[in-house]
Amino acid sequence: MFQADSVTITVLVENQVDMLLPDQDSPVDSGDHCVSRWGLIEHFDNKHIPPQAENGISFLVEARRDRHVTKVLFDVGLTGSVLAHNMNVFGVDPSSIDHVAISHGHPDHFGGIHKFLELAGRRIPVATHHDAELPRYALMGDGRMSSVYNSAFGFDAIEESGGRPVLSRDPLDLGWGVRTTGEIERKTAFEVPPPFVSGNPGLYQVSREGDVRRDDVMDEMGLVIDVKDVGLIILTGCAHAGVVNTILQAKKIYGDKPIRAVMGGFHLGFPTTPQQNVELTVDALRDLDVETIMPMHCSGMRTHAHLHGDKRYLQPAVGTVLHFGK
Ligand SMILES: [Fe+2]
Repeated sequence: MFQADSVTITVLVENQVDMLLPDQDSPVDSGDHCVSRWGLIEHFDNKHIPPQAENGISFLVEARRDRHVTKVLFDVGLTGSVLAHNMNVFGVDPSSIDHVAISHGHPDHFGGIHKFLELAGRRIPVATHHDAELPRYALMGDGRMSSVYNSAFGFDAIEESGGRPVLSRDPLDLGWGVRTTGEIERKTAFEVPPPFVSGNPGLYQVSREGDVRRDDVMDEMGLVIDVKDVGLIILTGCAHAGVVNTILQAKKIYGDKPIRAVMGGFHLGFPTTPQQNVELTVDALRDLDVETIMPMHCSGMRTHAHLHGDKRYLQPAVGTVLHFGK
């Protein structure tokens, strides 16, 4: 399997902007990476347009090997307008993207796909899971039912917009050490949701056979970059499958390599998520020796509070650029 010599990851869409965050070297002084921020100068200086935040996520992953580079967009945010704005702010040419990978079929992750494909202006592969387009809706605690919220992610519609859906339950090789995890095995006890009671509030999905079932988001996949002499960098969309399970899946694909960084949605932000799950997740990340932890998007304030002060913790913001490797 190929490894990347280095990777640069730019946070294009996230729930937060924060111009006060400093640039920094590695929190653990390993010397193999740096973090730069879109900071106060860029926000105040009239030569720049300030970036925007929204409830969603999108990373630009640029993996290099020798003179070669592959550019992967992992998720595309909620609206498309914020992604388009921020790509313009950060000088990212949409037509330069080689692959899009969508973590799962929820709008805060796929929502910008049509806008992005329009801007790209050429046919770009869009990797996702077969079940990502199956109809989904939510049943609220007060009895209200949402509309089907993933109809815009039909694979025919993606094709019409200029994308080329690449459907896989297995890991997909996107080049130079970048792979999707494929479907994630759910084996960590505290990340398994409680037993399903039909009719209870929650997320629902209609199966291919037409049955209504609880939506356990089995289509969710992460993105892993294997960087030479560094280890694995793991990105999560929402981590409905569990962030610990996502790491274990990455280890299953790549073997027992060091986990240099984990970043993305940790799915711990619901008020109903037990505090214990926040603590168990952070303990597990420590046990797995994850060197840099950047909870984002749906991770929730309790996760940030619990990790605050830990040298491995990195606060997320749109415009954060992380570089790993030589
Ligand atoms: Fe999400």
